[in-house]
Amino acid sequence: MTQKVALVTGSSRGIGKATAIRLAEAGYDIVINYARSKKGALETAEQVEALGRKALVLKANVGDVAKIKEMFAQIDEEFGRLDVFVNNAASGVQRPAMELEESHWDWTLNINSKALLFCAQEAAKLMERNGGGKIVSISSLGSIRYLENYTAVGVSKAALEALTRYLAVELAPKNIVVNAVSGGAVDTEALKHFPNRNELLQEAAEKTPAGRMVEIEDMVNSVMFLLSDDSSMIRGQTIIVDGGISLLV
Ligand SMILES: NC(=O)c1ccc[n+]([C@@H]2O[C@H](COP(=O)([O-])OP(=O)(O)OC[C@H]3O[C@@H](n4cnc5c(N)ncnc54)[C@H](OP(=O)(O)O)[C@@H]3O)[C@@H](O)[C@H]2O)c1
Repeated sequence: MTQKVALVTGSSRGIGKATAIRLAEAGYDIVINYARSKKGALETAEQVEALGRKALVLKANVGDVAKIKEMFAQIDEEFGRLDVFVNNAASGVQRPAMELEESHWDWTLNINSKALLFCAQEAAKLMERNGGGKIVSISSLGSIRYLENYTAVGVSKAALEALTRYLAVELAPKNIVVNAVSGGAVDTEALKHFPNRNELLQEAAEKTPAGRMVEIEDMVNSVMFLLSDDSSMIRGQTIIVDGGISLLV
């Protein structure tokens, strides 16, 4: 059996780290990407290696296309292939629309939207060498509904979901499957940057029809389903994993 390779951007913590470990359990060698948290990235690598898989740790700000190209060149050099790309890294400025500056917009859109396009281009070149691959991005409910202070991130996630549809069509001839998973609030470090973190968590705990908040593993389960052969006819979709909270008005 050939040894498959998966890249998870932003896998130094949170949903990305859990996805990287689950992919290692499923038998993939893992490329761990981070921007600032070297310690976290090395911890992910340790856990991947403890599962008997290879881990390549690459620092790259995915908002910078030159850094993306360097990252993929290193993947090519080390593994010479890529089978799975999980576009998970995200950042963003949390401000009301009237307080957003151009630099906030650029920072958020570069990391959350532009990165998918330029990573997918590089990923596709590696994937097509071995007959195809799978791409899954992580989105959030702010792409389709109003969340306080979330304008820039919400728009960036809407762009990511639209791009998912375009890539799904244009990469299909290369046998590359492209989808996304969107989540309700998950209690990771990301929420620490939300000025209204406590209200968000309380609302999710009290109002989610499924009776509990979304957990990291709920997100990872859906990512793994979209990376499996069971879902190969699902293309360009964003699966919402929110326990039903977005169904409420
Ligand atoms: N938590 C939620 O409530 C929630 C809900 C729905 C969707 N999501 C989505 O799920 C994904 C993961 O979120 P999370 O909650 O696990 O976030 P998190 O704990 O804040 O982790 C974010 C990860 O992204 C990395 N990252 C940030 N900027 C980067 C950049 N420019 N280049 C490369 N890596 C970068 C971080 O690495 P460094 O520390 O090294 O920068 C970190 O590993 C995101 O796409 C997020 O939008 C989260």
